[in-house]
Amino acid sequence: MRKIAIGSDHAGYEYKDHLIKFVLNQDCELIDKGTYTDDSVDYPDFVHPVAKAVVSQEADLGILICGTGNGVAMTANKYEDIRAGLCWNTNIAKLVRQHNNANILCIPARFVGKRMATMMVHTFLNTEFEGGRHKRRIDKMCAC
Ligand code: RB5
Repeated sequence: MRKIAIGSDHAGYEYKDHLIKFVLNQDCELIDKGTYTDDSVDYPDFVHPVAKAVVSQEADLGILICGTGNGVAMTANKYEDIRAGLCWNTNIAKLVRQHNNANILCIPARFVGKRMATMMVHTFLNTEFEGGRHKRRIDKMCAC
């Protein structure tokens, strides 16, 4: 069974709760790294545990949610083996898997509805990396 790590700040907390229920219905195991209330928090504190879970293969894929999706994406992408993609519709969510082999989906809770967020998660979890020329390209991403 695939394992999905999920995390958010206060801006994404409500979406996280909603998406957890959806992911559990997709025959996935879920690892919830918080936050667990809507009290104001700092998003990196919840991104690092999700990114580390994916890097260590405790989880196969990750989902991160904040207000714009940018803070969580920027933080997660500090990890060499993380490819976190900011998505706002299902076409982007599909392409970020097919072309970029993204291993974390970043959702901007203040700019997409819950229904779109759910559809993006469904697409992200059910789309495979195409490899080929896209593998050559992601192999050139590392700045080190
Ligand atoms: C929180 O107010 C907000 O700054 C955060 O959720 C996110 O949008 C940051 O990138």
